[in-house]
Amino acid sequence: MLQTKFWSIAASLLLASSPFCAQAQPSPLVRVNVAQPVADIQPTMWGVFFEDINFGADGGIYAELVKNRSFEFFKPLMGWKVDGKKRTEGDVLIQNRQEKSTSNPRYVRITTSNAGQGDLSMTNEGFRGMGIKPGLRYDFSVLYRVQSGNIKLHVDLLNAKDEVIGSGLLTPQQSDKSWHKQQISFKSTAGESKATLRLWFEGTGMVDLDMISLFPEDTWKGRPGGMRADMIQMLADMKPGFVRFPGGCIVEGYDLDQRYQWKKTLGPAEDRQLIINRWNFEFGHRPAPDYFQTFGLGFLEYFQLCEDIGAEPLPILNCGMACQFNTAELVPMDQLDPYVQDAIDLIEFANGDGSTKWGKVRADLGHPKPFNLKFLGVGNENWGPQYVERLAVFQKAIKEKYPAMRLVCSSGTDPNGDRFDYLNGKLREMKADLIDEHYYRRPEWFLQNVNRYDSYPRTGSKVFAGEWAAQSDKTVSVNNKNNWQCALSEAAFMTGLERNAAVVNMASYAPLFAHADGWQWTPDLIWVDNLRVYGTPNYYVQKLYSLNKGTNVLSLTQGNEPLAGQDSLYASAAWDKATNDVILKIANVSDKAQARTFQLDGAKKLAPTGRLTLLKNNTLDAVNSFENATNVSPVDQQIPVDVKKKTISLTLAPRSFSVVRVKVL
Ligand code: AHR
Repeated sequence: MLQTKFWSIAASLLLASSPFCAQAQPSPLVRVNVAQPVADIQPTMWGVFFEDINFGADGGIYAELVKNRSFEFFKPLMGWKVDGKKRTEGDVLIQNRQEKSTSNPRYVRITTSNAGQGDLSMTNEGFRGMGIKPGLRYDFSVLYRVQSGNIKLHVDLLNAKDEVIGSGLLTPQQSDKSWHKQQISFKSTAGESKATLRLWFEGTGMVDLDMISLFPEDTWKGRPGGMRADMIQMLADMKPGFVRFPGGCIVEGYDLDQRYQWKKTLGPAEDRQLIINRWNFEFGHRPAPDYFQTFGLGFLEYFQLCEDIGAEPLPILNCGMACQFNTAELVPMDQLDPYVQDAIDLIEFANGDGSTKWGKVRADLGHPKPFNLKFLGVGNENWGPQYVERLAVFQKAIKEKYPAMRLVCSSGTDPNGDRFDYLNGKLREMKADLIDEHYYRRPEWFLQNVNRYDSYPRTGSKVFAGEWAAQSDKTVSVNNKNNWQCALSEAAFMTGLERNAAVVNMASYAPLFAHADGWQWTPDLIWVDNLRVYGTPNYYVQKLYSLNKGTNVLSLTQGNEPLAGQDSLYASAAWDKATNDVILKIANVSDKAQARTFQLDGAKKLAPTGRLTLLKNNTLDAVNSFENATNVSPVDQQIPVDVKKKTISLTLAPRSFSVVRVKVL
């Protein structure tokens, strides 16, 4: 609140001292041609890239609080502590029914004799603790099978001092020696960011337990077993044009066995076969031995998420190649069919009606309405002739059956060099719909490459700038920060993407989420802990672009040249036909205030005031944090428009990113 006040005072001071109040000297003129839009901006222009990295899914947007709920981690009791004064040999046993269930073979068998409080307990530590809110309902569920006797399950939520902050009692209702699911709900009495969940057993007997689960009531849209609402809200607030999922390298897998297979992510949670998350062991300096993919968040949920937030789904599938930084395993060409079939089936799953095999699967899962999938990625960061060869098979098969499906194709790991040049050439020969470019580079690179797409062909393949982020140190360095310098360089670079919307049809920052206590990769757009979430300066840049996307590119020039680095200024302009707004985006990366007059040529009649949204900070190292979440965040103000001259005069604050909207009446 105080900060808002500070900014509005600062803004009015800026307004009072700016050239539109006392025009001493005419400032350089920037011309915007409103009469003749030069290209369309695709509705998909600004989107988000989601991957289960940094505890993005399990321990992140998937709201399950129990870690290793099904005892399928390599160490079956990882995350669990067995305790109690009556503990005896064999009273807690891991059973494996692999011959009966390959997707969820393990469960735990508890045997007790006349047990009471303190005698035998199992405590789950959660994903770096459990975030518990005061007075909220928590839903505990378990799959159980009573073998003999009567054992009751006491469920306690504990705070960091091991004090009970919520509890319930589950008395198994069935004793017919088969599996049953039972749920109880209880309210927490206090909040805690590092809570644990203790089960203790009362009575005598033997019971088998599996899928021990705890969800908060306040999931996204209140869906049971759903997603963490505060994290999803951050995405919804961006109104992204698309969501790319589920990655990233996890699509490829360390080896082919660990690749992402969408068909294994459907149906009851207990049937979704867990695999290791390749970020578990990828970085020796950031090990996460407890990082697995439960797939509680699966493809139906991803599609549903896209539908919820009005984004086009963009699933990426494995192309028959494991991560080339890891095993680089290849599926022989004569065995590629199942991979291709997965792609064909996915399209049917998303778009087919109930009369089709996979459309019916979707309908039976509770979503009869098709998702209208338009984009599909084949391969993530794959490269070389082996990729081209495999992609060609996918392309032929998919286009034959679904000619309108737009395929996203990989140009490898880097935006230049032999790998890129080879693939870029080949993909254009193949008439690839969209070429996925990745750039994790220093902020200077982003400034130097603002003209990257000016010389790209206007016809043929389009670009999906699928993964990028300015690195304050270097790629995969743990020292990278989401600082203002990086965000500002991205804002400047994005003027080049917008100016070239004829070529660039989609763009997304990467990675999206990181858990402060469990990350492997930095920088990331949104940081969370068990209870809190904050957007980085980079998030606000992405959000401003997305919320001010417009529908058409307008030409914006200073002295007949695009404003792309002269005096450290970078600018682009768009027209929004839905609102009749002219939208200007201007990054001033210099440490000086700079005045410019924007002339809106060809605009019939302008509204007398416009809106300036300003993102700025004098310190390039400035970051946001849980404690200071809006340190670098946008502030709105009204600005005057000279309706006679059809100009807007701005003093662009040092190290700032400005978005201006002016209505044409
Ligand atoms: O965004 C993190 C990783 O960077 C992605 O998984 C991969 O595609 C890229 O190398």
